[in-house]
Amino acid sequence: MNILVTGGAGYIGSHTCVELLNAGYDVISIDNFSNSKRDVIDKIKIITNKDFKFYEGDCRDKDILSRIFIENKNDAVIHFAGYKAVGESVKEPLKYYRNNLDSTITLLEVMKENNCKNFVFSSSATVYGKPKTLPIKEDFPLSTTNPYGTTKLIIEGILRDLYKSDNTWSIAILRYFNPIGAHKSGLIGENPNDIPNNLMPYIVKVANNELGTLSIFGNDYDTKDGTGVRDYIHVVDLAKGHIKAIEKVLNETGCDAYNLGTGNGYSVLEIVNTFMKVNNVDVNYRITDRRPGDIDACYADPSYAKEKLNWKAELGIDEMCKDSYNFVKVLRKNK
Ligand code: NAD
Ligand code: UFG
Repeated sequence: MNILVTGGAGYIGSHTCVELLNAGYDVISIDNFSNSKRDVIDKIKIITNKDFKFYEGDCRDKDILSRIFIENKNDAVIHFAGYKAVGESVKEPLKYYRNNLDSTITLLEVMKENNCKNFVFSSSATVYGKPKTLPIKEDFPLSTTNPYGTTKLIIEGILRDLYKSDNTWSIAILRYFNPIGAHKSGLIGENPNDIPNNLMPYIVKVANNELGTLSIFGNDYDTKDGTGVRDYIHVVDLAKGHIKAIEKVLNETGCDAYNLGTGNGYSVLEIVNTFMKVNNVDVNYRITDRRPGDIDACYADPSYAKEKLNWKAELGIDEMCKDSYNFVKVLRKNK
């Protein structure tokens, strides 16, 4: 079976390529490296000891997508390619609407032309906005607070309309909670070039003495210790969820959304303390003001994914913290 992976050099895409190759799928991938590095492709090959076809290009470019479909009989597509920084999307909304929407529509058009109708899409828990109750179930009301989130919501709507128009499509919308961690080898992981926006990459850079002090954004939330609570999920568990979603779309038509989270909420302080303990390292932090737009708490009810995809997260917070730090240690050693 051939699986086309867009954004395969990215954080979640690279881990998913590894799991697909390990599971015996043939992978074809495209990435324009706008937020990733070329050497990730070789690292995926080293980890799996398998080769796969890679195209450098942009998913907004219909010609290259058509060429990929002429040169390969793709059975299904997993679409990761897109921009993902919430803050940047507020400052540059057109950049986000152009890239995330154009790339998806172009890809779906080319799939339709080539009669490939099996699609797995990277959505986000951000589509639940500020949930009224927890844990979050898939049928909760959807809303967003930033252009990035709105692109995800619009695409979910496009996919539902597409299925309504032609019910031979088979579409899985995966709503990720907070992916952290890295592959055990330490060869692939999350490595932002700029100052990180997200908690774990920031902690890692402080522990590694690349940044001075972590700001904890508020300790007056309505949570166990006042700091924000999120559902952190190991990226390898998340990648395995895509294998289950691929099995689903290859076997049944439909269009459905699934939460990919653990169901456990951890506070910022719990994450920082666990990171220090399991890695035996200090992380300087101070409490600062809340970050605008942040919510108190967000965690999944993952039971629908268990029921329909037969998928459940296995790895705990200790492994997530250890593997996140191991990735930068390996990176530093190999420099
Ligand atoms: P990432 O930035 O590491 O990976 C995305 C990849 O897509 C990058 O390699 C980038 O170079 C590539 N890309 C972007 N636009 C492209 C285009 N037009 N053509 C070809 N390649 C393009 O991000 P990630 O964390 O791996 O996220 C993957 C997907 O999951 C994204 O759609 C993101 O919105 C979604 N998501 C991520 C998170 C998270 O916290 N990481 C949470 C929820 C949803
Ligand atoms: N936090 C800090 N200091 C930091 C960074 C984050 O205290 O330097 C706190 C935040 O206030 C929040 C928690 O750590 O309470 C997690 O913040 P992240 O930025 O890591 O993650 P978010 O939950 O804000 O958002 C992430 C992605 C979104 C995605 C969402 C749900 O950035 O794209 O998860 O999947 F939509």
